[in-house]
Amino acid sequence: MNLSIALYIHIPFCATKCYYCDFNTYAFRKDQVEAYIDALAVEMDLYASGCPPLRTIFFGGGTPSILSAQSLDRLFTDLHAHFRMCPDAEFTVECNPGTVDRDKLQVMRAAGVNRLSFGVQAMDNATLCQIGRIHKVSEVIRSYELAREAGFGNINLDLIFALPDQTVGQWKHSLQKIVALHPEHISTYNLTLEEGTAFYEWWESGKLRLASDELEAEMYEMAIDMLTDAGYVHYEISNFARPNHFAEHNLVYWNNEPYIGLGAGACGYVDGLRYTNIRGIPDYINCLRRRQKPIMSSERLAGRAEKAETIILGLWKRKGVCHESYQRRFGEPIAAEFGAPLEKWIGFQMLEWRDDDLRLTDQGLMLANEVFMDFLPI
Ligand SMILES: C[S@@+](CC[C@H](N)C(=O)[O-])C[C@H]1O[C@@H](n2cnc3c(N)ncnc32)[C@H](O)[C@@H]1O
Ligand code: SF4
Repeated sequence: MNLSIALYIHIPFCATKCYYCDFNTYAFRKDQVEAYIDALAVEMDLYASGCPPLRTIFFGGGTPSILSAQSLDRLFTDLHAHFRMCPDAEFTVECNPGTVDRDKLQVMRAAGVNRLSFGVQAMDNATLCQIGRIHKVSEVIRSYELAREAGFGNINLDLIFALPDQTVGQWKHSLQKIVALHPEHISTYNLTLEEGTAFYEWWESGKLRLASDELEAEMYEMAIDMLTDAGYVHYEISNFARPNHFAEHNLVYWNNEPYIGLGAGACGYVDGLRYTNIRGIPDYINCLRRRQKPIMSSERLAGRAEKAETIILGLWKRKGVCHESYQRRFGEPIAAEFGAPLEKWIGFQMLEWRDDDLRLTDQGLMLANEVFMDFLPI
């Protein structure tokens, strides 16, 4: 029985598609938005009965901030009509630089949004253009200032590194510019080449040069050094925060705890069932017009698969997997299922015990994916 739960709501609209992105997003169509919000309200209704209060809420995308102030207002009104919130709930909205204005920010504040996450990606216009972003550095700064003026005291900025043709100098410049803004939270993601993206197509046809593993590692180490020197706590593989500003919503994922996912293509994890919603917007809307949950696929995690997920997600945190929580959840120590990989990776000094937590060592961070492979179900 959960006393509180997390909620993710997906807004699958973007102005254009960035060259690297494979998230479930479509070109913004004003005529589709109202029907989509109607559908979300029905989906909320299907999950609301008996739902414990919300501990964290995350509106992600896509680009939630592409919606008008009126649409955002409707969406938040529906949310409050269906769900109760914990008094100190973390409430995040993902925003693209250049898509927020005073009205939208005011609507968010009034609805209880207390955290914003901006997809900055880079702080030089040449790189932004090369990766298909439509904003400029000046818009990052303007949107950030507007958010501060509106009273937001908890802001995350996303960056991507190891981008094609990105130099170490450009990456250092982006980090310096971001630190100078003093956000509470910074996410730095290494580029993942995803099938179905423009980057993937160009790479297959030999037109795109990816960063070498060495360059990627150098950029990652540079981020760790610069951000920790600037007072940020490196608390997850890709995430840095001022003390007391860790992303509570993401911690739910990394702790493999339940969350409701609503919206086209959203994923959720409720009562041990991991589910993924229908991805296409028209099909999603039609399903909810029939008042049916728009679930496309689901899987009940149990046994080794559930244990492996708990370990791998937990190892993403620098603190690692809390052994006591693991034993409480599964009724056995980690070694009962994973004795061999534990011995191997502790022997190679890629994993270590610190107090009661199993965590990646500093060198283990660089080889995290290889370590994780050994925990996957056979
Ligand atoms: C789902 S996106 C939504 C954010 C928002 N729409 C934006 O782009 O401003 C969240 C973040 O994921 C990261 N991201 C998306 N695709 C990525 C990829 N292929 N490799 C690395 N990071 C990626 C970006 O940093 C992005 O800000
Ligand atoms: S990175 Fe953000 S803005 Fe770009 S396509 Fe993906 S979700 Fe949309």
